[in-house]
Amino acid sequence: MSEINIGVIGGDGIGPEVTAEAMKVLDAAAAVYGFKVRRTVYPFGSEHYFKTEEIFPDAAFEEVKGLDAIYLGAIGDPRAPVGLIEYGIIAKMRFELDLYINLRPIKLYDERLCPLKGKGPEDVDMLIIRENTEGAYTGMHGFCHKGQADEVATQTMVYTRMGVERAIRFAFDAARERNKKKTVTLIDKANAVRAHDLWTRTFARVAEEYPDIKTDHAYVDAACMWMVKNPEWFDVAVTTNLFGDIVTDLGAMLQGGMGIAASGNLHPGRVSLFEPIHGSAPKHAGKNVASPVAAIMAVSMLLDYTGQKEAGRAIESTIAGLLSSGRLKGVGTGAHPTNEVGDMVVAELEAIAAV
Ligand code: IPM
Ligand code: MG
Repeated sequence: MSEINIGVIGGDGIGPEVTAEAMKVLDAAAAVYGFKVRRTVYPFGSEHYFKTEEIFPDAAFEEVKGLDAIYLGAIGDPRAPVGLIEYGIIAKMRFELDLYINLRPIKLYDERLCPLKGKGPEDVDMLIIRENTEGAYTGMHGFCHKGQADEVATQTMVYTRMGVERAIRFAFDAARERNKKKTVTLIDKANAVRAHDLWTRTFARVAEEYPDIKTDHAYVDAACMWMVKNPEWFDVAVTTNLFGDIVTDLGAMLQGGMGIAASGNLHPGRVSLFEPIHGSAPKHAGKNVASPVAAIMAVSMLLDYTGQKEAGRAIESTIAGLLSSGRLKGVGTGAHPTNEVGDMVVAELEAIAAV
């Protein structure tokens, strides 16, 4: 029996609650589709940091390098210094495990979840490829005359030909594999951020190798507009780290909100990280009101990545079915008690096994 070896970080706020539901679904999928899950649970997050001053110790970090995948619930606590835990856990994994692709599918499963008038599942089905190791997020920043009236703050955006090219190439491959509109849209701001010319040139060069794939381009401000006005124009889009962060929150709203959007941080062929894209939502923590659907969708993506494609697809179609039949009343906060959602999905998966 094949086995997948994963690390699990429940994290902060609603993270542990939604992770518990996700793990219920993972175990059920393993039983139904006949694979084993080996799990190492890590206590990392803000609470652990407050107690121990430990963020992500070296020994654990070495250990995760040998896993197939890492699952993360959510990180962030308003009591911790801004960015400390995010950089110490999420960004550390993205950068030091070289998880250069942030894969963010935006797919609407039921018209009622979409805030746009007259748009349905056939209109909202896109894949955003967010470059995940460069851009404005590399941490190259500084201040001078700190606290003075003439203070200056800078942050450098970093783009390498290699980093840009591998993200763009991934996008073209994804468009081919999806086999939908066979279009890749480059989202940048090359008219104002002149360093994005590297993206423009690299995109054109890589596109030549994919004559079967159409290309499109949108400046990020226009892309936000088109995503709302004509989401059906998008198939695969590739963009920088910062813009990808922003447009995927916008995209999440098109598919029903942060309660459903999941992501994979990938280095193809190596240990990769899967997480709902929402944060820790501290004000909803511990109340059994958070939607675990995004967390469950992250399991679906993890299984797809680790070779259990059938199980991954079954979870996705189960969620889609529960939403379109109305049994799952939505993916907003309070739509369902958190702990019942995992049970509903498990029951559906077990029903598949029974036929
Ligand atoms: C995301 C999050 C992170 C990011 C934060 C928590 C650092 O917003 O995964 O989109 O900005 O990348
Ligand atoms: Mg974000």
